[in-house]
Amino acid sequence: MKVAVIGTGYVGLVAGACFAEMGHQVTCVDKNAATVDKLRRGESPIFEPGIEKLIARNLVRKRLSFTLQAQDALAGADVAFICVGTPPRDRDGEPDLSLIYAVAKDIAHGMTGRLTVVVKSTVPVGTGDAVEQIICRTRRDVAVSVASNPEFLREGSAIDDFQHPDRIVIGVEDAQAEQALRGLYAPLTEDGVPLIVTRRRTSELIKHASNAFLATKIGFINEMADLCEKVDADVTELASAIGLDARIGAAFLKAGPGYGGSCFPKDTCALLHTAQEYGVPLRIVESTVAANNARKHRMALKVIEATGGSVDGLKIAVLGLTFKPNTDDMRESPAVPLIRHLQRAGASIAVFDPQGHRQAADQLSDVTFCAGPYEAAAGADAVVLMTEWDVIAALDLTRLRKAMRAPVMIDLRNIYPPEQVARAGFRLVGVGRPHRTDAPATADENVFELLRYRALPSGERGRGSHEELVK
Ligand code: UGA
Repeated sequence: MKVAVIGTGYVGLVAGACFAEMGHQVTCVDKNAATVDKLRRGESPIFEPGIEKLIARNLVRKRLSFTLQAQDALAGADVAFICVGTPPRDRDGEPDLSLIYAVAKDIAHGMTGRLTVVVKSTVPVGTGDAVEQIICRTRRDVAVSVASNPEFLREGSAIDDFQHPDRIVIGVEDAQAEQALRGLYAPLTEDGVPLIVTRRRTSELIKHASNAFLATKIGFINEMADLCEKVDADVTELASAIGLDARIGAAFLKAGPGYGGSCFPKDTCALLHTAQEYGVPLRIVESTVAANNARKHRMALKVIEATGGSVDGLKIAVLGLTFKPNTDDMRESPAVPLIRHLQRAGASIAVFDPQGHRQAADQLSDVTFCAGPYEAAAGADAVVLMTEWDVIAALDLTRLRKAMRAPVMIDLRNIYPPEQVARAGFRLVGVGRPHRTDAPATADENVFELLRYRALPSGERGRGSHEELVK
C-alpha cells in the first residue's frame, strides 16, 4: 500500500520505517529541511536503537523516502498518518493540537483521491471528529475516512514494540477505514497479533487509559517502596511476589525515582483535563500525578539524608540523566528536579550519561558533564544512580568507590544487589529496600551514623535514641 506519514519524530519515524520494512511504499514528510536532509542520508534525528539500519535498508530498497512537501507524499496515497507532536499547552494539561489541525488542512489540500487519514499522535478523545470536520469542510469533492490508531511504543525499544506488539488498536467510523487499516497491518495480524477494532472515540481513550494505568501501577509500587523502607521490608521481593499473580502482572512494578518522559506525565494530565471538561472525577489518576510530582523532589531529600543531613559544599556524582535508558530524551526526567534541588542545597554536581548530555545541557546549569562514570565520581561525597543504562549497571564498584571521597551510593533504580555494593565498601541507600545487608554493621556504617548525627543541628542532638535521630 502507499502510505504517507506526516511528522518524523519518535512515532512517525518508527512507524514509517517499520511500515516500509513490512513491504509498504512509505513517504515521510517533515517541515524541517535539515531533518529531511539527514534522513535522506540515512541518519536519524532521534536516538532509537536500530532505527538507522531500518532507514538505510529501506532507502536502498526504495520503499522509504523523505520529503518537505506533504503533497508529494499524499499524491496517490491510500493512507495518511498524522504523527506530529501534541505538547502540553500549559500546566493544566490541555494538549496543544494546533499542529494536528494544521496537518489536517495540509492533507485536505494535498489529497488526490479517496484517503484514509489516521491520527497516530496521542490526542484527547474527540480529536478525530475535529480532524474530519476540517478535512470535509475544505474538500467536499473527495471521500475521506478519519481513523484513530494509537501507538504503544516505548522509547528505546520502539522498533521491537512496533514489530511485535501486544495488540493493534484501530478506531474507525466506516468500513473503508477498517479495510485500509486491516490491509496495512495484515503482515502482523497474519502472524497472530490481536487487532482490536473499535469506534474512533474509544480508540482515542484507550491510549490515554493505557498510559494512565501504567503510570498508576508505577505510582503504586513507589508508595509500597516508601512503606517498605519504614517497615524494613524489600520492595523488589514484594514486586516479584505480587507480579506473579496473573491478575496483577510483573511488568511496570519497578520502584524508582518517579516516572518521567514525554508520555506518562503529559498523557495523565491530558486525561485529567478531558475528565474535568466532562465533569468526571478521576481521583486515582489525580493522586498518581500528585504523588509522582512530589516523589521527584523527595528523591533529593533521600540523597541529602544519605550524606548526613546536608550536601552544602559536597560534590555529588549523578550517573544517568535521561528518563530511562536507551534514549537521549530528557523530558520530565526525574534527574532534573533532583539535581536542581541538590544545587540549591549547596552541592556541586558532576554527571555522566551515555546519550543525554546535549539535551540535559538545555535544562541544567553549573553541572560538570563527564566523559565516564569514574571521572564523574572522582572526589565525590556520594554517587546517585538515576538511570539503569547497561554501562551504569556494569560498573566496577571497587574502582568507583576508590575514586570517591566518601563511599555513599544512592541507587534510585535498585540496580545492584545490596551485598555486592556492601562488598565494594559502599554504604547503600536504595528504594524500598532495607538500608542494611544481613552483614553486621561495618566500621564504615558506624562512621556514617556518626556523620549523620554530627550533621544534625546541635539542638536536635541528644534527643531520643541515635536511630530515631537519623530517621
Ligand atoms: C510509554 C508507554 O510504556 C508506551 O506504551 C507508550 O506508547 C509511550 O509511553 C507513549 O505514549 O508514547 P515510554 O514513555 O517510552 O513509553 O517509557 P516507559 O518504558 O513506559 O517508561 C516511562 C517511565 O516510567 C520512565 O521514567 C521509567 O523509568 C518509569 N518506569 C517504568 C518505572 O519507574 N518503573 C517501571 O516499572 C516502569
